[in-house]
Amino acid sequence: MADFKDKVVYQIYPKSFSDSDGDGLGDLRGVTARLDHLAKLGVDYLWLTPFFPSPQRDNGYDVADYCAVDPHFGTMADLEELIREADKRGMGLMLDMVFNHTSTEHQWFQRALAGEKKYQDYYIFRDGSPDCPPTNWVSKFGGSAWEYLPQLGRWYLHLFDVSQADLNWENPAVRAELAKVLQFWKAKGVKGFRFDVVNLISKPAVFEDDQQGDGRRFYTDGPKVHQYLQELVAAGGIEGMVTVGEMSSTTLENCIGYTAPQRHELSMCFNFHHLKVDYKNGDKWALMPPDLLALKKLFALWQEGMQAGGGWNALFWCNHDQPRAVSRFGEEGEYWSRSAKMLATATHMMRGTPYIYQGEEIGMTNPHFKSIDQYRDVESLNYYQILQEQGKTPAEALEILAARSRDNGRTPMQWDDGPNAGFTAGTPWLGLADSYQTINAAAQWEDPDSILWYYRRLIALRKENKLISEGKIEFLFPEDAQLLAYRRYDPAGSGELLVLCNLTGREISDCLPEGWSGAEKLLGNCPDSAPAGTLRPYECLVLQRA
Ligand code: GLC
Repeated sequence: MADFKDKVVYQIYPKSFSDSDGDGLGDLRGVTARLDHLAKLGVDYLWLTPFFPSPQRDNGYDVADYCAVDPHFGTMADLEELIREADKRGMGLMLDMVFNHTSTEHQWFQRALAGEKKYQDYYIFRDGSPDCPPTNWVSKFGGSAWEYLPQLGRWYLHLFDVSQADLNWENPAVRAELAKVLQFWKAKGVKGFRFDVVNLISKPAVFEDDQQGDGRRFYTDGPKVHQYLQELVAAGGIEGMVTVGEMSSTTLENCIGYTAPQRHELSMCFNFHHLKVDYKNGDKWALMPPDLLALKKLFALWQEGMQAGGGWNALFWCNHDQPRAVSRFGEEGEYWSRSAKMLATATHMMRGTPYIYQGEEIGMTNPHFKSIDQYRDVESLNYYQILQEQGKTPAEALEILAARSRDNGRTPMQWDDGPNAGFTAGTPWLGLADSYQTINAAAQWEDPDSILWYYRRLIALRKENKLISEGKIEFLFPEDAQLLAYRRYDPAGSGELLVLCNLTGREISDCLPEGWSGAEKLLGNCPDSAPAGTLRPYECLVLQRA
């Protein structure tokens, strides 16, 4: 079995990480050039989001060839060098497999378009008249999930952008092709995989209108998804490698199924329920402050639930699809550093494998773009229109994008306070957050009290302390919306940790449970002289006792 309980994964969005050739786009040689930052931080695996040939309609999640490198990112030789150099520093690569759909520029789709029956069966085509899509399902990026092709007189399904055609997993030939892709990369020496929206691969036997929603209930955690995953893992020969599935709108029960070791599916999975606590009525495009009680309940449900079922969580606040956590759940002003450390502590001490998204380790913030011209993401551009069609003014639509756009998490990595934050010598493909003058990696390596050094300590602790990597978890004070509290313990009785995080800008007093006064402080962002049991705004504390 893969070894991942005491490991930490670092997510790299290559397009925004580091540009080695001045074209304004990050690339693989840029990643290699920054490996020492990552090794010093102490992370174990590097998950690289897609760098495969792609028209980049969805920044590489529209893959046109699964087994090659897009020239914008470099060459296969650059990738092999990155694998070798990472390996020398004790880090393994995890590649991002986008197997729910391909780009419509993939040769399979092109051959389907050209009329080859074999490749038409690789996708989900349905007959129908041009004015009536087969079902009323809605694409995750807005609009219908079906596109009509006049040259074939048929519709194809795309749960995401119109250029991302869903693959037909019912077809064994498709499943065999995808297993070959895994074998190819395994042979190159990568150590693991992240599977994009993999719980959407199994579509229902019958396609029908959804009278209650957008169609997701028919294909989310679909009828054969577990069987397909088991088959893929076996046929791809990847059992024993570290794997993580991205699970869209999933359930606890299914995630136990995806990750319990005896099922031979995946090592762990991402779910997003805790990142919807600021969606008003579940709508990402309707703003609301985070509901902290709901957040705590979701953490408790997923942590204790996965533990009870023998599953394993991926722990995270940030990725390339999410706004910056410190801007969203923390504070960008006086408590910027403190709130970033508290948020890190909250997830890194939980049961599961922590993921750090590039820039999170230095507390990068949202860029606060003011004009639609600054946005690049297809989802943001679509929703800018949709929101106005729904009656919002352009200013209101921009305010929503400034909080919710995926571009918030995609601005270039802030390496230093030089031009373009050291990301590129050219013109960056997406603007930087102005904060790079003060928030950057170089400045934080100089400051032992920085967010960066704090992350380094958190990563090291997971390796030193078995209670963190292996201990059981139990949540405390479930009805308190301000204080996130849990203990990690060894059921055999040797040792216990208490984690206390003030999720708010208000002080908390008397938060120490019985028996903890006088316990040893393992970590925290509060001064050692702080009175026991008091947490000022966004403070956190980890205590240990025998
Ligand atoms: C996942 C990716 C996201 C992408 C989508 C479609 O959610 O993280 O970036 O747009 O899948 O592939």
